[in-house]
Amino acid sequence: MNRKKIIIDCDPGQDDAVAIMVAGKNPTLEILGITVVAGNQTLDKTQKNALSIVDYLGLDIPVYAGCTRPMVRDRITAADIHGESGLAGHTFGPCKKQLEKQHAVQFIIDTLLHAEDPITLVPIGPLTNIAMAMRLEPKIIDKIERIVLMGGSYGLGNVTPAAEFNIFADGDAAHVCFTSGVPITMVGLDVTRQALCNSKIIERMSKIQNKATALFLDLMNHYCKVQKEIFNLDGGALHDPVVAAYLIDPSILVTKPMNVEIDIRGTQSYGRTNCDYFSYLKKEPTADVAVEIDVEKFWDIVEQEFHRYDRT
Ligand code: BDR
Ligand code: CA
Repeated sequence: MNRKKIIIDCDPGQDDAVAIMVAGKNPTLEILGITVVAGNQTLDKTQKNALSIVDYLGLDIPVYAGCTRPMVRDRITAADIHGESGLAGHTFGPCKKQLEKQHAVQFIIDTLLHAEDPITLVPIGPLTNIAMAMRLEPKIIDKIERIVLMGGSYGLGNVTPAAEFNIFADGDAAHVCFTSGVPITMVGLDVTRQALCNSKIIERMSKIQNKATALFLDLMNHYCKVQKEIFNLDGGALHDPVVAAYLIDPSILVTKPMNVEIDIRGTQSYGRTNCDYFSYLKKEPTADVAVEIDVEKFWDIVEQEFHRYDRT
């Protein structure tokens, strides 16, 4: 079987962890590497978290540390949501896995330049590593099959009224990606906010008793509580796993081509993904934006992927 080759670029983060679990053992995906960026927490924490997740789940995937700071703006974190460690809810034991020596940006460049098969980039954190790779070696741009990212919104933001966290955390990097000409699938808050991990989902997943669900339940214990407190959501919105599930079964999302421009000049609306939903501006589409999600199918995929893990 020809597996889809992907690189996951992440900033774990509870929902990043679940995205790795969902994609990690799926037989149709080949994860060439996990690259890590500063985002939900500082890079020292997100890289440690990525290593621990991969080690704990027994996945044979190399992990590369990337950029510590956004391209231009000041660094932010999302400690209010993800906690001081970035993965509040679970404390890992000692981790045997080590970071690869190569920088994440160089890994992305080398892998793309030498690739014979198409590679899809899957950013589920701020886009700093991807944009830096494009700026350092523009030849990679034609070699990226597609970027399938979690980020943005054509409706409401989450970190400001206008902007979603991953884009807001490095709007300039997002601008580089959205103006690169690479085909982009933008999976934004418009659909990911519907992937709510509520008490029924917790009950359903807790019936699968293995390593993945033990971690899932710990993480969701913290994550769902915080999402209720901050956003009054009836459960934790599992943003990043929607991208993982979409790669496994694209029929979970309906997308619509739109011209998307990142606001990098604004003050109140810095980081907004301005999506021309009605094509009123008659500009070329720059992304396929997710507009509908089949939530039941999403949870079926998550459940199916959780079953692939060992009991202990
Ligand atoms: C995104 O921001 C992060 O906090 C999450 O991990 C997700 O990637 C949601 O806005
Ligand atoms: Ca993330």
